[in-house]
Amino acid sequence: MALEILIARDFDHMSEVAGRLLVMDVKDTLAKKKRYVLGLATGNTPTGVYKHVAKAANAGEFDSSKVSSFNLDEYVGLPGENAQQRALHPESYSYFMVQELFALLRKKFAETSVPWGTLIDQARLLAEMESHASDFVLLGRDAGKAISIAAAARSEYLSWIRDEILAAYEHKIKKAGGIDLHVVGVGQKGHIGFHEAGIPFEGNRMLLVQLDANTVDNAVRDGHFATQEQSPRYAVSMGTTLIFEARTVMLLANGTRKSETLLRALLEEPDCTVPVSYGQRYAQQGGKLICVLDKAAAAGVLANADAIRRRGARIQDMSAEAASIRVEKLLFFRDPASSLMG
Ligand code: GLP
Repeated sequence: MALEILIARDFDHMSEVAGRLLVMDVKDTLAKKKRYVLGLATGNTPTGVYKHVAKAANAGEFDSSKVSSFNLDEYVGLPGENAQQRALHPESYSYFMVQELFALLRKKFAETSVPWGTLIDQARLLAEMESHASDFVLLGRDAGKAISIAAAARSEYLSWIRDEILAAYEHKIKKAGGIDLHVVGVGQKGHIGFHEAGIPFEGNRMLLVQLDANTVDNAVRDGHFATQEQSPRYAVSMGTTLIFEARTVMLLANGTRKSETLLRALLEEPDCTVPVSYGQRYAQQGGKLICVLDKAAAAGVLANADAIRRRGARIQDMSAEAASIRVEKLLFFRDPASSLMG
């Protein structure tokens, strides 16, 4: 089972460790094939990693024009009278990616994709849901729901979302050969992307989502939107099972807010009430999961380290080490006998 937990001192250390591992995987992979497919996440957590990646690319460590990327999710319902205006809204995930990574690269990625949530007109979506109530079901045991559009939906608009926004994105990932490494963050209740807590794993590969109140709360608390009313209520997102098809998943988390969720995700049986817990199943089935956590996020994990190790995870506490990471520590991951990155 390849489930590696690395504990870093703080945000900067987490970003450096994760950034170096990511760049190493890009270099190793590009030595073997022509194109690297990188999965990306938004949120505050990965911003330091993105700076590290851009710096490495700009220093010529790898050829960023051989990388193409896919993001996890995008809001539906951002302010703006048309798709272009919504995509340019400073809180859109497309805008975020340009600001935090794409614009920093001297040699641009070959192609970037962010789920096409801004193409959806929220007013039209709500009207179609109201007039075609039997075209979809809401799936989920908690406040966040997947709006699952039926194969036989009669609404042309809902069918278009199902086929051209959701299924087409999954198809595009498949056509690119799948994702080599996906960077993911985690929400307070354990969501990844916008696969909200309580939405079943199975049958939800690409999602149209009605967001959980906790997600909306955090978007306001973190300063992304001034009020709950201004915060989007819908999104499109890769679902957990699709995310965990990447060859490597790199899960990042910092801060105390994530500690309890991470403990549940790593210690309890995988269950969709904490979507990120699917990572255990992924690792058991041969996936490579690397969790890079700062000490605050890892508090629960550290307090229960033996129990988590008994579930097959390997924990390396790097938080007490000197400022710069020893390269041999990173090489450890390349050792095919115990490797995640090999
Ligand atoms: C949003 C995003 C997630 C992200 C989460 C946590 O919900 N859709 O992909 O992981 O926020 O954000 P942060 O990294 O700012 O804590």
